[in-house]
Amino acid sequence: MLELNFSNADSAVLGNEHGINIQKELVNYKDKIAEIVTDIYANKTTAGRWLAWMNLGYNQDIVKQISTYAESVKGKYENLLVIGIGGSALGGIAVTEALLKPYWNLLSQKDRKNFPRIFFVDNIDPDQIEGLLEFLDLKKTLVNVITKSGSTAETMSAFMIIKDKLEKELGSDYKSHIVATTDTSKGILRQITDEEGFESFTVPDDVGGRFSVFSAVGLLPFALVGLDIAKMLEGIKDIDKDLSNTDITKNIAAQNALINFLMDKKGKDISVMMPYSSKLRFVSDWYVQLWAESLGKEKDLNGNVVNAGPTPVKAVGATDQHSQIQLYNEGPNNKIITFIRVKEFATELKIPNVFGNTGIGYLCGRTMNDLINAEADSTRVALADYKRPTVTISVPKVNEYYLAQLLYMLEVQTAIAGGLYNVDAFNQPGVEQAKNYTYALMGRKGYEETATSLKQKMSV
Ligand code: PA5
Repeated sequence: MLELNFSNADSAVLGNEHGINIQKELVNYKDKIAEIVTDIYANKTTAGRWLAWMNLGYNQDIVKQISTYAESVKGKYENLLVIGIGGSALGGIAVTEALLKPYWNLLSQKDRKNFPRIFFVDNIDPDQIEGLLEFLDLKKTLVNVITKSGSTAETMSAFMIIKDKLEKELGSDYKSHIVATTDTSKGILRQITDEEGFESFTVPDDVGGRFSVFSAVGLLPFALVGLDIAKMLEGIKDIDKDLSNTDITKNIAAQNALINFLMDKKGKDISVMMPYSSKLRFVSDWYVQLWAESLGKEKDLNGNVVNAGPTPVKAVGATDQHSQIQLYNEGPNNKIITFIRVKEFATELKIPNVFGNTGIGYLCGRTMNDLINAEADSTRVALADYKRPTVTISVPKVNEYYLAQLLYMLEVQTAIAGGLYNVDAFNQPGVEQAKNYTYALMGRKGYEETATSLKQKMSV
């Protein structure tokens, strides 16, 4: 099971310094947390509450459907190209980076056990897309286009470029190289998919992009590259028992939501996510979106202007000890740092006795595993010396079961934090605004008025 340790965010270190006694606050917020947890779990299936992501761990049908499809295409493609952005890409990137063998795309087909390489197009940089298409053999590529709304300009423009090229290279056979993941009934991609007869999977209603990693948005690419999606769902179901506990002392998602919330109120309004693992580094990117889009809100649920939301920042240990940690120790005391620790790495890598009689001899005979964990401990204690709060989430191993637990725990934590901030954690009006402006600038029908006012604003 995952563990949460917040001992040096505790009163011993921070009580006098910042006026927070965590143990006392766990008691003070007991009823509020129970109310929030009861509410989200009671409304998992309530239409319009956008909590349907909480049911994804129980959806065995989707596992069967996806596994059947993945089996039917196994060995047919050398490459899987995923097109999506934001919540339609970040979970996929985080999980595949964490669970596939490092340098997956450089491994031979045999070492990949006949599963494809995986590429993500999650931006609209012309050089990057052109560069990818220059070497990617589309005849050996399956394209998974993912957009819940079905109209996101970045995703659909990249899809059009790739579809055009696919069709030119393959003729009418191009259709079998496309699988779409989109809304059940709404949106332009759904319409195109149905008209063209593409294979497709759905993003269930009431599942928002950043909470969609365990829908077909993530599960399909995961299964296609050979990850065990049934194990992911098993992990979620197992941890869900604890996360639904209304007793804050037994619920790590609630504890971490509360700690982050209280720290923000005390001026620690920057939330750093720092896994001590290269494989988990993209979990930070995924978390940054989850935390930022869910909690960064102008208004609370009563319509008051609150401009809420801590600023999430990504870091990775030990690399960022040689970059950001100087600032975290000695700069403004305005951050709470979450470490993610891996208890057992898949490999134990020994440092050989190479320069044993020099000043680095102390490293010889030790393992990289000892070193990375020693560095995580030293950084945490040094931060405590400087009176900087940290929280540590310990993950037993980086595998399907525990990674799914980690991501799902952070999702539940976000939903609970939404309750504490009293904001809607599931909308993103601030993102929609810029999306609409882009539509207007690019001449989309129906956005003429927006285009006129936008041009005026741009000329000022
Ligand atoms: O969390 C969200 O809802 C967003 O980040 C979306 O995932 C992102 O904007 C992409 O949207 P779509 O999947 O509709 O293309």
